[in-house]
Amino acid sequence: MQPARPPASPGLHPNMHRLLLALLCSSTCFQGTDSSAHRLPNISSPLLCSPSFGQKFSVLCQGHSAHPSSSLVYWLANETFVDDLYPDGAVTQRSTRESLKCAGRLLLQRKLIFRAFSEKDLQTRFQCTILDPAGSVRKAITWQMKSKKGAPGDC
Ligand SMILES: *[C@@H]1O[C@H](CO)[C@@H](O)[C@H](O)[C@H]1NC(C)=O
Ligand SMILES: *[C@@H]1O[C@H](CO)[C@@H](O)[C@H](O)[C@H]1NC(C)=O
Repeated sequence: MQPARPPASPGLHPNMHRLLLALLCSSTCFQGTDSSAHRLPNISSPLLCSPSFGQKFSVLCQGHSAHPSSSLVYWLANETFVDDLYPDGAVTQRSTRESLKCAGRLLLQRKLIFRAFSEKDLQTRFQCTILDPAGSVRKAITWQMKSKKGAPGDC
């Protein structure tokens, strides 16, 4: 068995990126281990929402991925892309916001916006999806129209 040669140019090696992240994070938190790369993405938003009919309304989906450079978050409506199901733009999704967390974890956020919440929206299944090389997660919005208590706000 011949030992493998080291890579030719260490200067711009992709691992530099990881090293920088490790340096950035080490002062404030524990180091992640390599096993974190196998961890599935997750969605932390409860997605329990109480909109009012006719009102502008937004829902934030938030989650983590262990793959900062290759993760995606998007909303589905009735199993298709929101833009396709609502070509009139009555429901849209904002662009993704990403922020890097410790140990190379990425916080992903994406908002779904209802121009004026309708009965049809209530009948529609909205799901937030986060996708990365470790796998994918999906979580549906649960509408809670019964609760009269408290001012309904963004979700
Ligand atoms: C999933 O969420 C928890 C905190 O809610 C976090 O500690 C964990 O690292 C997350 N998973 C990933 C892949 O980031
Ligand atoms: C989504 O599907 C439900 C039932 O299958 C339907 O009532 C609703 O109108 C659909 N939503 C849109 C925006 O077409």
